[in-house]
Amino acid sequence: MSIDNAKKLQPRASVPTEVRRGPFDPGGQPSLDRDHPLHLSLFAWNVRSGLAATKAVLTDEGRYADQWKWPASRDLLQAAERVGFDSQLQYGMWSGYGGETNWNGAALDFATGAAASAVATERLGLFTTVHVGYDFHPLLVAKITAATDHVSGGRLGVNIVAAYDLADYAQFGFGGKERDREADERGITRTSAERYAMADEFCTLLKYLWTSADPVDFEGEYFQAYGAQVNPRPTSDPRPLLMSAASSDLGIDFAARQCDAIFIAGLQSGGHSRDEVRASYATTAAKVRAAAESYGRKVRICGMCFVVMDETDERAATTMSWLENEIDVAAVTNLYGRYRGVPTDALPADVNENWIRNLGLGISGRQIVGSYETVANELADLHEAGVEHVAMCFWDPARSVEAFGEHVIPLLKERGLRH
Ligand SMILES: Cc1cc2nc3c(=O)[nH]c(=O)nc-3n(C[C@H](O)[C@H](O)[C@H](O)COP(=O)(O)O)c2cc1C
Repeated sequence: MSIDNAKKLQPRASVPTEVRRGPFDPGGQPSLDRDHPLHLSLFAWNVRSGLAATKAVLTDEGRYADQWKWPASRDLLQAAERVGFDSQLQYGMWSGYGGETNWNGAALDFATGAAASAVATERLGLFTTVHVGYDFHPLLVAKITAATDHVSGGRLGVNIVAAYDLADYAQFGFGGKERDREADERGITRTSAERYAMADEFCTLLKYLWTSADPVDFEGEYFQAYGAQVNPRPTSDPRPLLMSAASSDLGIDFAARQCDAIFIAGLQSGGHSRDEVRASYATTAAKVRAAAESYGRKVRICGMCFVVMDETDERAATTMSWLENEIDVAAVTNLYGRYRGVPTDALPADVNENWIRNLGLGISGRQIVGSYETVANELADLHEAGVEHVAMCFWDPARSVEAFGEHVIPLLKERGLRH
C-alpha cells in the first residue's frame, strides 16, 4: 500500500513538518527553573555496580553491585525521594564490560526503569537515557516516553546519547551482512558527524510527536514518519526536558540546539587544587552556555560525581584506597576498547593507572571522597563554578543515600544550596 493510501485510512489528516534540525522548540523551551539552587539526582542506580568497576563489590554483591535489582532499587529510589533528592537519572547500557566483576553486566532498560520508578515514587523527577544510533525509531521512543510522562504526572526527562559502543552496535546487528557500514577512524560503526546529525533529527521528530495535536509527516535524512502520532501526549508542558552528556564540539553543538540540560566535565581527580577544579568547570560551563545562547536558547549546566563518603575524610580515603587497589582493570579497558575501537591488548600509552582509576571509579566524572563536610564543600565548589544540577553515583548506595539526607543536605542548606 502506498503512503498516500495509508494516510487516507487515518482518522485525522496529517501535517507536513517543516523543520528537520534544531534549534527547534515548539511551544517554547520548557522551564529550567529548579526548586533548589543545586538540583540533586541519584545516578546509575539501575545498572550493576553503578559507576564502580572494582572487585571490592564482590565482598557483598547485594549491597555494592546488585542495588539495581527490584525491589532493592525501588527501596533506594523511595529513600532518595524521602531524604530530599530531586530526581533519578538512569544509566543507559545494553551490555556490560565483563571483567571479574561483570561491570554493568545487568541493567533495567530505559523504558522499564523509568516506568517502574514512576509508580514507585510520587515526587521524584525521572530522567531516562535513550541511545540514538541503534535504529530505534523516534515514534517508539516518543510513545514510550509520553506514556511514562503521563503515568508519572509530568515527571519525565530524557537523556539522549549518540551511541558509540561497538559491542552494542554489533548486538543490534550492525557489521553483519545486512548492515555493514564504513566505520569511522575510531572503528565506531557510525561517524561522530553522522551520530550527532541523527540525534539532531531524532530530537526534532520526537518534539513534533510530543507536541503536535495532529499526526505528522516527516521526511528526514535518517528518519521518516507518515501520519505519525502519539496519544497520550506528555503531561509535561510544553514537553519533557531533554538532557545530553555529549562532550565533543560536535556533541555540544547538537546539545546546545536541542537539549535543555547539558553535562560538563572539569579536571579529574589527582593533584589539583580546589581553585583549579572550580576554574576548569567554570570555563566549560561558560562555553556550553555561550553555545546555547548562540541559538537563542538556555541550558541547565549539570555535573557528574562519584561519591565515596564517611564520617571522616580518613575513613572515606581508606575506602577509596580499597576500591582503587581492587580496580577491575579488565572491565575498564573493555569500556575503553569498545569506545575507542582498539583491542584491549593494544591500549595507548595515555591509558595509565591514574586514567584507569578515573574511568573505573566514576567514568571520569568528578570523584568526591571525604567526610560529609568535604562532600558539601565540593558540591558548593561545583555550584560556584556554574553547575546547577549534580548527578551522583554513590559507593554503597543504600547507606550513602540515607547518610546524604541526614548529614549532607543540612550542610547544603547552610550553604544556601538547598531551601
Ligand atoms: C553524566 C554522563 C552520563 C552519561 N550517560 C551515558 C549513558 O547512560 N549511556 C551511554 O552510553 N553513555 C553515557 N555517557 C556518555 C556520553 O553520552 C557521551 O557519549 C560521551 O561523553 C562522549 O561524548 P561525545 O560523543 O561528544 O564524544 C554519559 C556521560 C556522562 C558525562
